[in-house]
Order: sequence, then structure tokens, then C-alpha cells
Amino acid sequence: MLLIANAEAWPGFPTTVDMLKTGADSLTALVNGISMVEADPRVRSVGYGGWPNMLGVMECDAGVMDGNTREVGTVGAVPNTIQTVRLAHEVMKRLPHVMLTGDGARRFASEIGFSLDDVMFPDSKRVWWERLEKELPPEALAKFPDIPLAPLSRTITDPERVRDTTVFLNADAEHGIHVATSTSGWAWKYPGRLGDSPIPGAGFYADSRYGAAACTHTGEMTMRCSTARSIVLAMKLGRSLSDAVKLAVDELAELSGGFLGGVVIHAVDSRGNHEVANFQCGEEIRYWLWQDNMAEPELRVAKTF
Ligand code: GLY
Repeated sequence: MLLIANAEAWPGFPTTVDMLKTGADSLTALVNGISMVEADPRVRSVGYGGWPNMLGVMECDAGVMDGNTREVGTVGAVPNTIQTVRLAHEVMKRLPHVMLTGDGARRFASEIGFSLDDVMFPDSKRVWWERLEKELPPEALAKFPDIPLAPLSRTITDPERVRDTTVFLNADAEHGIHVATSTSGWAWKYPGRLGDSPIPGAGFYADSRYGAAACTHTGEMTMRCSTARSIVLAMKLGRSLSDAVKLAVDELAELSGGFLGGVVIHAVDSRGNHEVANFQCGEEIRYWLWQDNMAEPELRVAKTF
């Protein structure tokens, strides 16, 4: 059995390991771990500790996929909800749909008993407002939010507030391959922007016969390349895991125009191999690994491309 997750998964990774050790349902184990990440304000890219959109409103994205059936549940730009990955799992379990967004996703959350959460972490609100004060001339600030937001969407792109995500991938010979994601998305994003974390094929994909992939950082890159699905399809066509990841990295490198940024690919195959690739993130990227022959999870360094 194999579990990998990004470095910021630490608040929930041990819980997922413990649940998997005791034979819990794989996707439920991933969802429970990610729910702990979403609830922890020390994680500054996911759930309660994440960053709001340009209007200072939190809109979170999440997704789950069962590689045995290829069932998927995702939610995007959901307001007032901390437990977004659990909501994505409920979409998968209860609805004939794959994805709900915005107010519809929130309505579904209320129907099935989710609380209406106060999702705005005070420090996130403070940093957001300071950023606006820095960027906007006083007359525009006085009229905010009744100003065109599009011109702001490039100027307030903030490299220090990373487009990170939490991703958990589990591969198990008996129970198959599962993946789950969650993020508050790009800090100061245009309202309604979806990243790759709720987009099956871009931010995540799992097929128990071959493997799975999930991405963090710049969703605008992986959505243009269908990165996660490309990796799994390459394995289906006979490529090794590392060849499949290299192919996806090459496709990212071939992009031009538009917004270009770093991506981290987390991938596993059905033979128990894993690969984590740091494509041009400009910093060392780490990830969590646990295999059932390990006493404790290990923090490892991703390969740089
Ligand atoms: N990968 C997270 C995002 O782009 O929102």
C-alpha cells in the first residue's frame, strides 16, 4: 500500500495513514485526512487558512475520484464551506452529476446538513485588504468593489501567496487507486475562477488498472494540458510511470502565451511506484510518502525539471 500527499498535508496525513492501516474505505480515509488540512488555519492554501478572491470572498475547490469505477465528485467556487472535499465526496455518492459550483454547491451542502461556515480567516482578510490598498489609487479604493476587476487580475497576482493545493493519492493492490484534492485556489483570483483541483483530467485522475496523478500550483497550466489524465493515458498506452510524468512535464514546457507558472505533479502506478515532479516552481518541493513497510511517514524532496 502506498500513500503520497503534498508537504502541506501534514495535519491530516497521519489520520489517513491510520485509517488505511485499519482497513477503512480508501476514499473516506483520504477525505478525512484532507478535511483536517482544510480545518487547520496554519495551512495557508487550503480551506480555512486559504486566501480569498479579489472581492475578499473565500471560494474553495475540491475533487475526489475512485479509480476502480472512475466515479468522480467535484465542487468549485463554493462559498461558506470549509469541508469542501467532503462535499465533493457527497456529490459523487448522492448525485448523478460530477461537478457542482457556486451557489448550487452551497445549496446542496445545506440540503445534506453541512453547516454554513464562517470561512474568512482574519489574517487572510487583513493581507487581502493590505494588498488592495497597495495596488489601488485612493479614488478606486473608495469605490471598491464597484470598479472593473479585470485590470486588477494581473497586477495583484501574488507569487508569495502560492497557488498550492492539498492532494492525497493512495494505491493499494487490493482496494485500488484513489485520489482527492482541495484548495482555496489562486490568491486574489477573479470571482468565479476555477482552478484545476475540481477539474477531472487536469488537476487529478485515477484509474486503478494503471495509476493516478494529481497536481498542485498553477492550475492554468494543467488545465491547458489535461495533465493528470495525460499521465494515466500514457501508462495505459504502455509508458512507465516516470516516462508518463516526463511526457506531461514536456507538454507543460511546450506551452507559450497565456499565464505560465510552476506545477507539481504527484503520480503513482498500480505496481506501487510513485513520482513527484517539480516543474519550474523555483523552490524545493517536498511531499509525504507512506508505504505499509514504513514505521512512519517520510518527507521527501520532489525531482526538479
Ligand atoms: N492548483 C490549484 C489552483 O490552480 O487553484
